[in-house]
Amino acid sequence: MKILITGGCGFIGSHAASYFRDQGHQVVVLDNLSRCGTEGNLEWLRQTGEIEHSPADIRNWDQIDKALSQHTDTEAVLHLAAQVAVTTSVTDPVNDFEINATGTFNMLEGARKHLPNLKMFVYSSTNKVYGGLEDGELELKNDRWGLSNRPNGISETEQLDFHSPYGCSKGAADQYVRDYSRIYDIPTVVLRQSCIYGTRQFGVEDQGWVAWMTIAAMTHQQITVYGDGKQIRDLLWVEDLVKLYELCVENPDKANGQAFNTGGGPTNTLSLLELLNFLAEREGRDLGLKFDEERPGDQKVFVSNNTKLKEILGWKPTTSVDQGLEQLAQWISNNREVIVSFKKKAA
Ligand SMILES: NC(=O)c1ccc[n+]([C@@H]2O[C@H](COP(=O)([O-])OP(=O)(O)OC[C@H]3O[C@@H](n4cnc5c(N)ncnc54)[C@H](O)[C@@H]3O)[C@@H](O)[C@H]2O)c1
Repeated sequence: MKILITGGCGFIGSHAASYFRDQGHQVVVLDNLSRCGTEGNLEWLRQTGEIEHSPADIRNWDQIDKALSQHTDTEAVLHLAAQVAVTTSVTDPVNDFEINATGTFNMLEGARKHLPNLKMFVYSSTNKVYGGLEDGELELKNDRWGLSNRPNGISETEQLDFHSPYGCSKGAADQYVRDYSRIYDIPTVVLRQSCIYGTRQFGVEDQGWVAWMTIAAMTHQQITVYGDGKQIRDLLWVEDLVKLYELCVENPDKANGQAFNTGGGPTNTLSLLELLNFLAEREGRDLGLKFDEERPGDQKVFVSNNTKLKEILGWKPTTSVDQGLEQLAQWISNNREVIVSFKKKAA
């Protein structure tokens, strides 16, 4: 099967590209390499096997029109390319809209025009489409925030409530992707992803907090905690997510038209302070943390309820937070030089 992955040189995309290629599929990564670290990921994909790179920019219809017209035998699209940071979306909402909303629209139109054999269009949406969960009853127990009226996490019946330009642009795209299944009969699925973590993630302070804090702790950089550090997130190991992409591609009859909340779920949660304690213990030193004010739009709690995914696709995460954190720390240990040189370039 030919699989086209937008954002295929990014963190999640490069994992997906390598996995699907190893399964014997022909993989095209469509990526304008705008994110720092992506050139290195492309080089790694080239060194480890066959890969075709299309340098198109999803904001530009002419480029997408041309790129997809060269791959009319594509059977699956994983649409992962995005502007990914809430903070950046606040400083530059125009660019955020053009990449996330217009870019997704261009991909859908390109699929409608050029991909007659398409079996599945997977869209990586975000839990930010549920906004601040204002009617959630916050409770602090054992230094962890929780929602007493959502004990099993947030399900798909939660009201959509887009917050921040990033939430709005991803949310608009989320709805377009769903509607192209209804109106144009293009098989699509929306995955509203929680926090994804894993190797090859060059996290920065604004996005990718688990990788950012782990790299910072292991390379002696200053870490600032925004808010009280008791915020809770569910963490999903990237390889578990890629297996879910595969299930969606292989089961279009079940996945088509659906939106699924996708995360580590209630058994894979972590607070910022819990991560930092783990890292301090692993490094055997005080990390010298700084604290600053909570950032706008930062939810105190988000935990995904994955029940619908389990019921419809039989998927559940298999990597525990302990296993994932250890694998991440080991990858950083083994790749310290690459990571430090990436950080210098990004600075
Ligand atoms: N990582 C997470 O925790 C998380 C959580 C929820 C949702 N998501 C979503 O998953 C997807 C992948 O995220 P990631 O963490 O791998 O991010 P990433 O930044 O590592 O990857 C995004 C990729 O998109 C490419 N890109 C950006 N703008 C482009 C454009 N105009 N044209 C072509 N390519 C462009 C970048 O070069 C990069 O390779 C995104 O859609 C993101 O919103 C991620």
